Amino acid sequence: MPSVYFETFGCQMNVADSDMLAHALATRGYYKAETAASADLVVVNTCSVREGAEIRAKARIAQYARYKKKNKRDQQLWVVGCMAQRLGKTLAAEIPGIDRVVGAKEIVTFVSDIDIVLASSSLAHAANHGPAQVSAFVPIMRGCNNFCSYCVVPYVRGEEQSIPASQLEDIVRGLVDKGAKEITLLGQNVNSYQDEACDFADLLNKIQGIDGLERIRFTTSHPKDCSMKLIRTIAGLPKLCKHIHLPVQSGSTRILGLMNRGYSREAYLERIEAIKNLAPDLDITTDAMVGFPSETEDDFQQTLSLFKSARFTAAFMFAYSKRDCTAAAGMPDEVTLGRKKERLAALIDAQTKITKERYASMVGKEMDVLFTERQRGREKLWMGQDIGCKKALLACDDAIAGMILQVRALRSSGMTLVCERT
Ligand code: SAH
Ligand code: SF4
Ligand code: F3S
Repeated sequence: MPSVYFETFGCQMNVADSDMLAHALATRGYYKAETAASADLVVVNTCSVREGAEIRAKARIAQYARYKKKNKRDQQLWVVGCMAQRLGKTLAAEIPGIDRVVGAKEIVTFVSDIDIVLASSSLAHAANHGPAQVSAFVPIMRGCNNFCSYCVVPYVRGEEQSIPASQLEDIVRGLVDKGAKEITLLGQNVNSYQDEACDFADLLNKIQGIDGLERIRFTTSHPKDCSMKLIRTIAGLPKLCKHIHLPVQSGSTRILGLMNRGYSREAYLERIEAIKNLAPDLDITTDAMVGFPSETEDDFQQTLSLFKSARFTAAFMFAYSKRDCTAAAGMPDEVTLGRKKERLAALIDAQTKITKERYASMVGKEMDVLFTERQRGREKLWMGQDIGCKKALLACDDAIAGMILQVRALRSSGMTLVCERT
């Protein structure tokens, strides 16, 4: 039987796309290869969001192309995703050895045509169904219309399109029948979901009604579309996890304007207050970047002070990376690399302290954790997540994948809670 090896860069949308392609291949006889060198097919799913992401992906693709040449095997190398979309055929010209380039906009059609693709690639197939997933990703929309001035996503993923609610209910029911306990609804901007009269809060209510489903997560929410209706829904629906990822990007209203984010510092902080009032235990996480063109020390201090007052449970923090096709690429006053690095280090420092404090405050508390998998290389250690976004570890001899267990946090190792059964 043929084997496939996946390497996925980028966001959860890419993980979902890799899962979709992996599933299509698994049902056609492909099993997972342990290493890229031993696989009949290597798939690299790429990201373009920052220059660093592209550099890393290209290095990997070049490495796989070298394996292929060295082993002189009939191995296939496919490059898919956002960088494949941005660079297209020039990528195949730049790195010889790539057999197929499939852009992020084409991936859904590509997967539905997979039989034709496989027939033309002379890769054999037979039935082999992939393992059930306890926690599965479900894209509810594709693309993005927001055109934040720094961001490549609208260019590589195209226009926003919501998937009909009835279709999504069927997909979720199907996953639950196969053993899923938790689903994560995905979109670049999930809360602008709209299927005729059904908005995102209405969709959550529909999904809540699916028997056998225990937990619902969703990401990413845009602050400008985070309505009171949605906040009330998050606070009220029992299956909804107590976590919202609400990227702020900057704490300076001037920079937010240049970024085309559609909200001010004050409006963002008001949203956070409303969430904390209606759902005090909710974990709020964010994304932010430093060094956007013309960012001054004062602008940066405003990001830092926003972090200190919001007290996010966790945050992803980045240095601004210029992307050629975007509006910000033409903006003056680039911030030097040295300054970006300084600001990023200061922001990470401040947030790490807050994250540690928030995790430490959980020690001694009881929580319900959904365990999903064993820690790699350590058979008895199970990994899971509480009803918010906090990671938990439990030593346990039994197989507990898919179980929600009540545990007590014994200690915090920074960003993980080591737990015991209650
Ligand atoms: N759709 C999501 C995020 C998509 S990209 C949203 O709107 O929040 C994930 C994160 O990468 C962004 O939140 C942003 O913080 C960061 N990012 C995007 N473009 C970037 C760039 N050019 N340079 C640095 N970070 C960037
Ligand atoms: Fe990019 Fe903005 Fe769309 Fe997020 S909302 S994907 S940051 S353009
Ligand atoms: Fe995601 Fe990167 Fe594409 S963040 S949408 S994989 S550019």
